Amino acid sequence: MEDRIVSSENVNQEEISFETSLRPQLLTEYIGQDKVKQNLAIFIEAARQREEALDHVLLYGPPGLGKTTLAMVIANELGTNIRTTSGPAIERPGDLATILTALEPGDVLFIDEIHRLSKAVEEILYPAMEDYCLDIVIGTGPTAKSVRLDLPPFTLIGATTRAGQLSAPLRDRFGVVDHLEFYTENQLEDIVVRTAKILSTEINHGGALEIARRSRGTPRIANRLLKRVRDFAQVKGNGLVDFAIAEEALTLLRVDPRGLDTIDQRLLETIIRSFRGGPVGLDTISASIGEERETIEDMHEPYLLQIGFLQRTPRGRLATSLAYKHLGMEEKGAE
Ligand code: ADE
Repeated sequence: MEDRIVSSENVNQEEISFETSLRPQLLTEYIGQDKVKQNLAIFIEAARQREEALDHVLLYGPPGLGKTTLAMVIANELGTNIRTTSGPAIERPGDLATILTALEPGDVLFIDEIHRLSKAVEEILYPAMEDYCLDIVIGTGPTAKSVRLDLPPFTLIGATTRAGQLSAPLRDRFGVVDHLEFYTENQLEDIVVRTAKILSTEINHGGALEIARRSRGTPRIANRLLKRVRDFAQVKGNGLVDFAIAEEALTLLRVDPRGLDTIDQRLLETIIRSFRGGPVGLDTISASIGEERETIEDMHEPYLLQIGFLQRTPRGRLATSLAYKHLGMEEKGAE
């Protein structure tokens, strides 16, 4: 799928164009991740001056922090096309070969969830990344021949929530490796205000800050909550998103004052109630609360670890004193 982000007018699916219009297009419009942006700005400028493809970039970190958005910004800043795909979507080596041979010089190829590429597909990527070429085998048995096909210089941007699951040979082929961090409340407030402006929604400081506080450091969640609070403001209020309407709406949506949703709460309560605060293994937690292990690991644990409600130990997960306090539960004995 070709996706020139500078021209959203020819994207006809309403939802896609809506989401696209919320995305910043330039590094200067992208809020947060300052160190990552500073470095990327230099690498992008250097590549442009040399008229070369930017070196391959690996972006890793929890979901919703803007990896895809950043990839689109990079392509836009480079003035190139971006082609977007994902690890699970590329089933066979031939699928990747088709994508690679369609690239134009300098293009960005974005592969989301790159840790989910199969070994066979990954092996096609190595020479493509290193030497811009494709090794294809024609025929089978003793008459099989390997043919080398040149590819245009391109930039692979890989995104993953699991850098640890990437094989060493793949990881080593990225010249730029950046970790995206959770956003601060102030940064999220700026993102909420920016999005509200795009949506023509009236919002004040108190409203934006309350949404920011309950967004678990994550722009995707902040923007989603803003849309829901906006509905409440429109139907139950006078349209203005202020502190009172944000608090009322988010409480009804069961997003607590620290941004924990019902799954986060259930996870902590289960560790505390059923396993005396832990340590307890992830698979046991997963079976107890009926959520997949991967969902817990990717979507819930990173933020709970970040705010110090959960600890990871060799013997399993442990609820901390802060978690007990937050849930209003009594901690028995020494932790
Ligand atoms: N929307 C989502 N993420 C954003 C970011 N980091 N900066 C600006 N707008 C955003």
